[in-house]
Amino acid sequence: MEYSEKVMEHFANPRNVGEIADADGIGEVGNPKCGDIMKMYLKIDKNVISDVKFKTFGCGAAIATSSMATELIKGKSINDALKVTNKTVMEALDGLPPVKVHCSVLAEEAIRAALADYYTKKGIDPKPIIGEIKNCCYKNTD
Ligand code: FES
Repeated sequence: MEYSEKVMEHFANPRNVGEIADADGIGEVGNPKCGDIMKMYLKIDKNVISDVKFKTFGCGAAIATSSMATELIKGKSINDALKVTNKTVMEALDGLPPVKVHCSVLAEEAIRAALADYYTKKGIDPKPIIGEIKNCCYKNTD
């Protein structure tokens, strides 16, 4: 399997690893097939993601994609963060082997799950804003 230099670099030196104790939103997603789990913590000030940290128990591509995802949303507005898809993450990493595409999907969904948690905590129904989150909380089995 061929990985881009950027994937290898983010795998070796992942950015924003850790937890945020007083996070405004926490998202946890997992892929039931490979068993990998991604947890994302967001600090949000006036609709801007002021801080983000992640913990990934998973493959190297899952670590690289979550690292890149945090870089892509840090300092961005919620609206811009919601525009970050798995494709955005993959392009920023100069691509992923086909069998590893689902790892980038996990990164996209971790962001959305954390934002959904943020809205839920504020008493706002996240569904109309975020939509369905496929791998959230292990509800999906495909
Ligand atoms: Fe499943 Fe990478 S192998 S997230």
